[in-house]
Amino acid sequence: MAENQVIEKLKRTFDPELIRKDFPILEREVNGKPLVYFDNAATTQKPNVVIDSMRYYYTHENANIHRGLHFLSELATESYENARLKVKEFLNAMSASEIIFVRGVTEGINLIANTFCRAGLLNDGDEIVISHMEHHANIVPWQLLCERKNIKLNVIPISDEGELDMEAFKEMISEKTKLVSIVHTSNSLGTINPVKEIVNIAHSYNVPVLLDGAQAVAHQKVDVQELDCDFYVFSGHKLYGPTGIGVLYGKAELLNSLPPFMGGGDMIRTVTFEKTTFEDIPNKFEAGTPNIAGGIGLAVAIKYLNSFDYDDITSHETNLLNYATKKLLAIDGLRIIGTAAEKASVISFIIDGIHPYDIGTIIDTDGIAIRTGHHCTQPVMKRFNVPATARASFSIYNTLEEVDKLEASLIKVIKMFR
Ligand code: ALA
Repeated sequence: MAENQVIEKLKRTFDPELIRKDFPILEREVNGKPLVYFDNAATTQKPNVVIDSMRYYYTHENANIHRGLHFLSELATESYENARLKVKEFLNAMSASEIIFVRGVTEGINLIANTFCRAGLLNDGDEIVISHMEHHANIVPWQLLCERKNIKLNVIPISDEGELDMEAFKEMISEKTKLVSIVHTSNSLGTINPVKEIVNIAHSYNVPVLLDGAQAVAHQKVDVQELDCDFYVFSGHKLYGPTGIGVLYGKAELLNSLPPFMGGGDMIRTVTFEKTTFEDIPNKFEAGTPNIAGGIGLAVAIKYLNSFDYDDITSHETNLLNYATKKLLAIDGLRIIGTAAEKASVISFIIDGIHPYDIGTIIDTDGIAIRTGHHCTQPVMKRFNVPATARASFSIYNTLEEVDKLEASLIKVIKMFR
């Protein structure tokens, strides 16, 4: 069954109970209980249409792209390039050439860090601005640069609520700043940052801005032209798509000014032992055989998401967040870490005297999946003086009844420990 036939069947109003039927994994039991999947910030589950599209590709279209003149190669190339067009529409980029397929956010940020440096855009004495709520993928690539050159990493502090100190940001940006790289929505605190304001401030100093949209794209509409950001990265697997595929969007002018990231097939125009010339964007940044099935699956995930109204998605997830916040706050000894005014559907919490690992392990026996640990944001844990948190993160297929189950299971945990 071709994926567009499947997708056409999906035009309908937002109904979580019907949506659940699209996700086969939600039918399974865990430890003898129906699965309650609240680890969506780590990765989302996959709807049948995404799974089917990848199976369809491997069953009917599989070939390498951009290489053969044979029927299947042309078919696979067309499907892959159509996927790029779908992402272009999704982000409202100016051109499909501004869409680079990468493995995910981590590779996208490493690509920019590496090529910015090699382009001579980052030199001794320059500064980069990030924030205290970045996850490791938006900290470590810049630190690796700082080991190679005398570059300073300026870190925007965060408040006790988990909001960026915008006054501190305005003070730390200067003509020495060469790039601002900020998370759109925090994975461990849930904070939605004022990214439009950040872009405007940075641009008043002619500083480009990279936005890490890993936790944003599945939950709110993102328009890169409206945001006017210079780079935007996201991972397919947090958007109901497959793992191992993600997107780096960059303004064409900037991408054109950067050198290739990795060398290999498909990114070259001519190769001799004396000199190699490179393809234009986006191919310049896509060395080797890409994740073709992943790109196709991601495009179907985007179509799936587009079959709903974003306002309905946001409203459902906000409802879950508000309901869960009220329920969890009523639990004796439970404290929420991250109470920003603008929050996505992520709740990090701790319970007095009980380690988050114990919470996660015990509620797993009730079939409830949450993430426990530092969430790849160790500086955030240090800022709030906790070793780890328990984190429930919600998605389109979660329900208020599932939140009730979480509440009941947490009360059980507390009874076991007190
Ligand atoms: N960054 C992912 C998370 O928040 C893995 O869980």
